Amino acid sequence: MHDLDKIVAEAIAAFDAVADPAELEQAKARYLGKQGALTERLKGLGKLATDARREEGARINAAKDRIEAALAARRRAIADARLESRLAEEALDVTLPGRGLARGGLHPASRTLERIERIFRSIGFDVADGPEIETDFHNFTALNTPEDHPARSMHDTFYVAGGKAGPVLLRTHTSPIQIRHMQSHVARYRHLPVMPEIRAIAPGRVYRVDSDATHSPMFHQVEGLWIGEDVSFADLKGVLTAFLQKFYEDETVRTRFRPSFFPFTEPSAEVDMTCVFCHGAGCRVCSHTGWLEVAGSGEVHPNVLRHCGIDPERYIGFAFGMGPDRMTMLRYGIDDLRLFYEGDLRFLQQFV
Ligand code: DAH
Repeated sequence: MHDLDKIVAEAIAAFDAVADPAELEQAKARYLGKQGALTERLKGLGKLATDARREEGARINAAKDRIEAALAARRRAIADARLESRLAEEALDVTLPGRGLARGGLHPASRTLERIERIFRSIGFDVADGPEIETDFHNFTALNTPEDHPARSMHDTFYVAGGKAGPVLLRTHTSPIQIRHMQSHVARYRHLPVMPEIRAIAPGRVYRVDSDATHSPMFHQVEGLWIGEDVSFADLKGVLTAFLQKFYEDETVRTRFRPSFFPFTEPSAEVDMTCVFCHGAGCRVCSHTGWLEVAGSGEVHPNVLRHCGIDPERYIGFAFGMGPDRMTMLRYGIDDLRLFYEGDLRFLQQFV
């Protein structure tokens, strides 16, 4: 092979051996650059006689054209290959099935609260709300709770670093929402000769220093309140009994009211309902009594009404407080309250 053909063959092989544009340019320099193999040959032309120089010059130029053509072809090939692989990498397979959205669900505790709200709304109750960090005034004082009441101790209540207006705490019950609701109701209807009736429930989280299989330091309560010119204890019995029958979808549910004591009601009563499992016959769930304790209740104490700017000589009504977590456990047959707070999907998915 003529040595020029050899240089051309070498150059083509060198170009073919690289796949990177920068390496290709380095290979080009070895043949066509200032010190490239072909350039060296051109420099040697001067020593030749005229005829030989013309002939040799033409051959070198032909070799140079071939190398340049091979270089251009290789540049194109490398660019095409890069584009090809990028397209393959970024390819979107439109025939793949979608990943789908995981279906969320409500926590059983939330389902119960929604169910309670729905039933009370259907008989004309509003749903009231209030802060979880409360003042000592709303949580205790306005509810007629004496200064030395045990519930006020650090042993039972979580206190938060005190505010300017006195002690601040995590509310121990939903009853302070009664106070806030009555106060704002009074302010809103001050201009009317007769205050419209107050009919509200207040579901929410409450906190106590307590923790075992049936007590969690955070749990839920639902407060109820109905105040008007003529709201009696009989109305309390009617509302709660009808509610429990609706909630448990059982019209045979009966209630009984046992005398009790709460500072914020007078008279006060514990509310029991016939056991949803044995219907009063006696079973393990109701400790063989046939009854389940479901709420505290009573006629709102005159001092509480006064704290809210309501005249107890003119207005009267009842309040109650119940534990929706226990209701959830009874409704779904759950025997350990801690399951509510562990976030275990095997438990939670059963309610979706
Ligand atoms: N606040 C009471 C508690 O946490 C429950 C309660 C009892 C609320 C009687 C009331 C009521 O509104 O009238 O134990």
